[in-house]
Amino acid sequence: MAHVAQEKWSSGTAFLLAAIGSAVGLGNIYRFPYVVGENGGGAFVLLYLGIVIVFGIPLVMTELTIGRRKQVPPITAYTQLSDGKKSQPFWKFVGFSSVLTPLGILGFYFVIAGWTLNYVYSIITGKLSNLVEGQTQQVFADLTSSPGTLIFWMTLSLAITAFIISRGIKAGLEKAVNILMPMLFLILVLLVIYSAFNGGMAETFEFMFTPDFDKINMKTLLEATGQAFFSLSLGSATMLVYGSYLPKDTSIPKLACGVAFADTFVALIAGFAIFPIIFANGLELDSGPNLVFVTLPVIFDQMPFGQVFGILFFLLLAFAAITSTISLFEPAVSNLEERGIFSRKKASLVVGTGLWCLAALSALSMNVLSDVRLLTFNDTVADKNFMDLLEYMSANGMMLVNALFAAIFLGYIVHRKDALEELGLGDSLLFKFWRGIIKVVVPIVIGYLLIDFLGYGFI
Ligand code: PHE
Repeated sequence: MAHVAQEKWSSGTAFLLAAIGSAVGLGNIYRFPYVVGENGGGAFVLLYLGIVIVFGIPLVMTELTIGRRKQVPPITAYTQLSDGKKSQPFWKFVGFSSVLTPLGILGFYFVIAGWTLNYVYSIITGKLSNLVEGQTQQVFADLTSSPGTLIFWMTLSLAITAFIISRGIKAGLEKAVNILMPMLFLILVLLVIYSAFNGGMAETFEFMFTPDFDKINMKTLLEATGQAFFSLSLGSATMLVYGSYLPKDTSIPKLACGVAFADTFVALIAGFAIFPIIFANGLELDSGPNLVFVTLPVIFDQMPFGQVFGILFFLLLAFAAITSTISLFEPAVSNLEERGIFSRKKASLVVGTGLWCLAALSALSMNVLSDVRLLTFNDTVADKNFMDLLEYMSANGMMLVNALFAAIFLGYIVHRKDALEELGLGDSLLFKFWRGIIKVVVPIVIGYLLIDFLGYGFI
């Protein structure tokens, strides 16, 4: 098999920007605020922070290490690192499953990325202006019930992503994050300032940082872990692939902390951009997924300069989404290219076409196919349409499985020396602590969550 040599990031900073771009996405700006809202604020935030520190950072280190050790894409990495072991075919399969998972995520993520682009357009063209009560609900319902409109905007977000990927690491991914990430940060800062002038900052502080421990139970633990894994781009080959492009002279522990810190910071800041104006308008935070696409547009419509800031807000979401979709698209392309099966351009086209079909089905499951149920034998999933099922299986189930096996792989299968050399921490207490976490704590906790995922839990 012809193995094609991989391009590398030009520096640690280039990696950092791309990895933060991957981590910061719809998960931070669209999902985190409403999950915090639904779970009662401070206690959830505290739990989330604990999970990021205890599991998140060690797992990001784990995946980057597996990726960088041989500097090859995930399937090859798992195969090479388990060379000589009887269990090698199983690990090859884990590599394969890690590469498939982000494709499942993209099957619904492109649709939501399409909504954000549609909202930018709708505000610019005045479709979200001078609304009367309840009208944003209608605008959103009109969007989700129109197959053509949904598919059009989904296709646009897919085409932008495939175009960036087809240009390669330096000319494509690096260039895109170099432009999009600074804009993303700038817009976020502008929005927080805008919110600070217009709204309830004090209430936001109180809501976000006063924990009410009664609100913590096993269900919140599950939600917070799922949210943290999704937000840190774990269990989905992204960190394996981005790690494989990482130059050897960079420090994995430092970069992993940088990614986790920036990701969490942006999630919190997103709360500070959104909550104050919600509080100031006397609205509730428990509207779930409707928070961003139904509640916020009403407020932007009523506030001074709301149209400008509304456009900025949905552009922010769109930029955050695109820097994540490229990281979800890259693993499959990287494998196909390395194996010499397709050139990068062809691989982008082929993967893009397959994904288009998947995402189109998601889009249709919100309208013409909304009554179709695929899995009816299990109570947890029986009532989910295609898009919800895809989200549940990939973002909740497969991500956890892949992250669990990555930890077991590096903890028990790969030689200790490999991790020792790659992490550069020496045989220190920190190194031993990290190993303890991935060998013992991660398998116990994820194992428990998976039992619950399968519907046999005690939660
Ligand atoms: N972290 C991204 C977000 O928060 C989503 C993502 C998951 C990206 C897995 C890559 C891999 O939106």
